[in-house]
Amino acid sequence: MTQTTPESTGTAPAPQGTLFLDGEAHAFQPGETILEVARRAGKTIPTLCHDPRLEPAGACRTCLVEIEGMRRLMPSCAMPATEGARVTLESARIDRHRKSLLGLYLTDHPEAETVAARRRPNLLLDMAERYEAPTDWPKMAPLRASRSGDTNPYIDFDAAACILCARCTRYCDEVESVSAISLAERAAQTTIATADSRSLLDTTCEMCGGCIDTCPTGAMAEKRPITLGAKHEQELTKVRTTCNFCGVGCQLDLNIDPEADAGRGRIVKVTSPPVGTTTNDGNLCVKGRFAYEFVHHNERLTEPLVRDEQGQLVPATWEEALARIAEGFGRVKERHGADSLAFVSSSRCTVEENYLVQKIARASMGTNNVHQCAAT
Ligand code: SF4
Ligand code: SF4
Ligand code: FES
Repeated sequence: MTQTTPESTGTAPAPQGTLFLDGEAHAFQPGETILEVARRAGKTIPTLCHDPRLEPAGACRTCLVEIEGMRRLMPSCAMPATEGARVTLESARIDRHRKSLLGLYLTDHPEAETVAARRRPNLLLDMAERYEAPTDWPKMAPLRASRSGDTNPYIDFDAAACILCARCTRYCDEVESVSAISLAERAAQTTIATADSRSLLDTTCEMCGGCIDTCPTGAMAEKRPITLGAKHEQELTKVRTTCNFCGVGCQLDLNIDPEADAGRGRIVKVTSPPVGTTTNDGNLCVKGRFAYEFVHHNERLTEPLVRDEQGQLVPATWEEALARIAEGFGRVKERHGADSLAFVSSSRCTVEENYLVQKIARASMGTNNVHQCAAT
């Protein structure tokens, strides 16, 4: 039996109650956390281990707030909103805690320049700057083990930049359900590992790159921008487009180094738009995220080719090529009838392109022989 839910009827769920954020009353919905209520109200609470696609872990402690009646600071990402709760988001105590916490994270984190050279955003460094965390505390060498010799061509893991927030492993478990990576070792040696430290290619990893997308520090990063020597994140131009590898139609951002290839520009990586902004909700598969090298392949067709009188393929204008196609179809139709023609469209086409294919078949050629390869 189909249950009727607020989602299925399109109506917003009724508020479950009211809590107070820095003295202001805010309604909350069933199941919301304090962080979710605060963010919906436009309040700023810093987070590192939180990803709205994942179950709360309460691991990084950057989102701590004061809740009246509770002795300790509590992680707002993991605390359910409760009726009448009085929550303080900013206070001298919270500020002191954040500064110390971020200062401690920095003690074994790579220097800013090293991380910038990795060409990945780093929320930890941004946050440390914003909250004026101490940067002069004694440094210690990170003890987390790296996975050296991983020959996979896409995903790099830099253990030194990892803060063990477990977003990557939780994403791998909860969203992809493949559990290719997990937390391993103990205490200061805890790290992100594969079974028997194998290359990701020899695990259940599907190379979706979700670990890269969710990692807040750049510890998980694309290999290609590093090997290409691409520019820093801020200098790349982002172009939003629709993936054309399958009919799901995920939105993705092409990250282009505008000065590469003698100023012609070059895609150096593909990222997913932020969580919650498009229907793919920050997720991509291996094709959408990594299979873009064909764009710059030197054997890629960039202009139409038609056969000359000797049967050799030669460059032509689109007008010439389309006229040649129409002439060929017309000849077949005249000789063998309209139903001797069939049109098969691709799941890589957009809805609009598929519409046009059936229009050509039916209205122009007079046949209903139309198929689309994603039809089941
Ligand atoms: S690799 Fe990134 S996402 Fe994974 S635990 Fe480390 S910091 Fe978190
Ligand atoms: S990213 Fe993957 S699932 Fe999404 S449209 Fe492209 S091929 Fe399909
Ligand atoms: S974001 Fe809440 S504990 Fe990390």
